[in-house]
This record gives sequence, C-alpha cells and structure tokens, in this order.
Amino acid sequence: MNILILGSGGREHALAWAVMQNPKCDRLIVAPGNAGIAMIAECAALDIEDGGAVVTFAEENSIDFVIVGPEAPLAAGVADRLRDAGLLVFGPSAEAARLEASKSFTKEICDAANAPTAAYGHFTDAEAAKAYVRTQGAPIVVKADGLAAGKGVIIAETVAEAEAAIDDMFGGAFGGAGAEVVIEEFMQGEEASFFVLCDGTDVLPIGTAQDHKRVGEGDTGLNTGGMGAYSPAPVLTDAIAQTALDQIIKPTMAEMAKRGAPYQGVLYAGLMIENGQPRLVEYNVRFGDPECQVLMMRLGTQAMDLMHACAEGRLAEARVNWADDHAMTVVLAANGYPGSYEKGSVIGGLDGLPEDSFQMMFHAGTTEQDGKITATGGRVLNATARGATLQEARDRAYAMVDQVNWPEGFCRRDIGWRAL
Ligand code: AMP
Ligand code: GLY
Repeated sequence: MNILILGSGGREHALAWAVMQNPKCDRLIVAPGNAGIAMIAECAALDIEDGGAVVTFAEENSIDFVIVGPEAPLAAGVADRLRDAGLLVFGPSAEAARLEASKSFTKEICDAANAPTAAYGHFTDAEAAKAYVRTQGAPIVVKADGLAAGKGVIIAETVAEAEAAIDDMFGGAFGGAGAEVVIEEFMQGEEASFFVLCDGTDVLPIGTAQDHKRVGEGDTGLNTGGMGAYSPAPVLTDAIAQTALDQIIKPTMAEMAKRGAPYQGVLYAGLMIENGQPRLVEYNVRFGDPECQVLMMRLGTQAMDLMHACAEGRLAEARVNWADDHAMTVVLAANGYPGSYEKGSVIGGLDGLPEDSFQMMFHAGTTEQDGKITATGGRVLNATARGATLQEARDRAYAMVDQVNWPEGFCRRDIGWRAL
C-alpha cells in the first residue's frame, strides 16, 4: 500500500515509524513531516488543512490509505473530502470531529448518552455566564467552546478569576473559539487518557497513558502541549477502563451513530478518576502528542493493521497483541517554551543514538540544514523507550536524553514520578 500521513510532530514521526515497519507499507509519504521523519519516509510540502489540495496530492501519488494526525484538518473536513474522492482514510468526519472542536457539543452528547462528566452551563453572553459562576462558586473551570490549541481552559480558584476569564473569552482572547463559553464543575481526582479505535460500530481499546502538561518539575508552572508521557497508566485499571467503555465511550459512539455522524478513527478520552469512578474531562479526535509516541512504542507494527482495520470497518475481528511492557517518552523543548523561544539552534549527539524497537528519538520541531539538525519549534525531540518495567523504560529514555548535546534545550527530569 501507498500510505500518506498528515502532520509534522512527534506524533506523526511515531506513526510513520510504526507504519513503515509493516510489510503492507510499500511507500510512505508524510506531509509536511520533519527532519526525523525524512530519515525514514518521503516528506512533501502540502497545506494539510486544504482538503482539495490533499485529495489532488493523494491522487497524483496513487495513495491507498491516508492517516490524519492532528485535529485541525479533521475539523476542517479533510477526511470528508478524501472519502468523497473514494480514498480510504483513518480519521473522523468534520461532524464527528466536533467531539473535540466544540466543548458544548460534547457536553450535550454526554447528556444524551447519560455519560458521567462535570456539571456545566453553556453561555453565549458574559453576564449570564458570570451569574452562573456566582451561583456555583469556585473553584470552577471556564472553557472557550472551540479549538484553542489547548489554551482555552482556565481553572479559576476564585469567582473573580472566573469572571475575568469570562470577560477575556468574550473579549476575543481566543478568537472565534471563545464566542461561546462552557463553565464546568471542577472535578477532583487523578487524570488519565484512554485511547480506543472506533469504526462507527465497534470499539477497540488500544492503550492508556498519562502525560505531564506542566512545564516544570513536580507538575508546576505553565501548561504545555505535554512534556512527557508513559503507558500504561496505573490509575486506569482494567476495571475502571471497562467502566469508562461501558458508561462513557460506547454510549457516546452510539449517540454519534444515532445522529448520523458515526465516529471513525482514534478517540482519545481524557478521564478524571476519583474513588474508582471515571468521568469524562474531554474528548480528542486524534492521538495525543506525546501520548502517541508511547502507544506506538508499545504497539509496534500492528498499529498499522489496527488503523487499517478501523478505516475499513473491520474492528469486530481485530485483536491487539499486548506485551506486558511499559513505555515512556521525555520531551526536549527549546529554552523558553511554552513562552517565546529561539529557533535555529543546532542539535548535536543525535547520530550515535541507538534506535530499535526498544528506543527511538522521535522528532517534532526539527529541520535539516547543511547536514545539521536544527530546532524549529517549541517541543523539538521525544526520547522514547520501552522496557519490562516503567523504571527500565525511563532509564533508557533518559540515557538517550543524556547523549543529546543541545544547550538551547531542556527537559523535565521527573517524567513518570506519579507512577514510580
Ligand atoms: P481540556 O482542554 O478540556 O482537556 O482541559 C485541559 C485540562 O484542564 C485538563 O487536562 C484538566 O487537567 C483540566 N480540566 C479541564 N476540565 C476540568 C474539570 N472540569 N475539572 C478539573 N480539571 C479540568
Ligand atoms: N498531550 C495532550 C494532547 O495531545 O492533547
């Protein structure tokens, strides 16, 4: 098969790594890709949010299967355009992608599906939102309804903070994403992520993970896209995962199908677990980044067969071969991230790294210039490893980190502390 992956992050490098090792893969193109991906696949410049351009590119390159990495092309309907053109795609329609693109839509689906989640109100004007906050008290969570690159959620410790966040959102701080606001009960507990494949009818769990969203050690400081992750998540026991499937995920999928928007692709459920009961925090309609890196490390080449079965509606017969192992990824980011940072610094030490089915340095914001790898983004590298224990995976991941020579970058030294 000729396969096209859309995206350019560590997630897409991990997907490409798993896909290219599968014997079904004859040719792999990643658009736009990065310097690490370019070492294992062809990269092509392409506006991946332009459905027409993606269809033309896929047809010109005789692509048989398209895997969509990030949410933006999904929300923009790129998977729909590809399917309309008769191409096989892994990823939901724009209508189904509303599970990530609109928080109020997800809350409404949860109501209809009777899925446990935080109590909420949905508002289109600031005064009504503030009145609701005053009746509920703090802490309380204020969310921009639309896609806000992970920044549209404010956990307000006081009513005044919540009111300020409401003014910011309706004032346009998050652009169109903040034209509507969802206000939620603050949920206590431990967070974990649950990943399942859905083919519109059947649901297949493919792993659990936890990530570290804060930039600083001990989970302090500003929120980021994720500074590291590990899989499995010990807090998401088999029993809790089963409850999440039965009470949250399957009812959501059934509700989507009932509304004529069956969900096809990977569904990433962010769960809050308290006293053994999971509640939904949010859905994402794609793999997490960096969670994908640990999932691909654990699934290996079968990931491609599973995504293919998902796209063809064959999940009922699909099985996951689980190894009793653990994986960890440690993100190396540019100094200053998630604030402003410099681009263009040279990263040394990458050549000598061992790369095999136990350890891989997945690239995110990198490019190659005159034979040198340089940093072009905030999150730049993902040292990813697996082992018989989480400690073994962690030791391998940090051994890779320690070989990298990049004074302009940093990482957290405590990834996995909660589980270890
Ligand atoms: P979201 O973009 O909805 O995932 O929110 C980002 C982060 O905010 C989540 O991963 C949680 O850590 C936190 N969060 C969101 N909603 C709630 C909630 N209702 N209660 C507690 N924490 C929340
Ligand atoms: N690491 C969190 C996310 O991908 O949304």
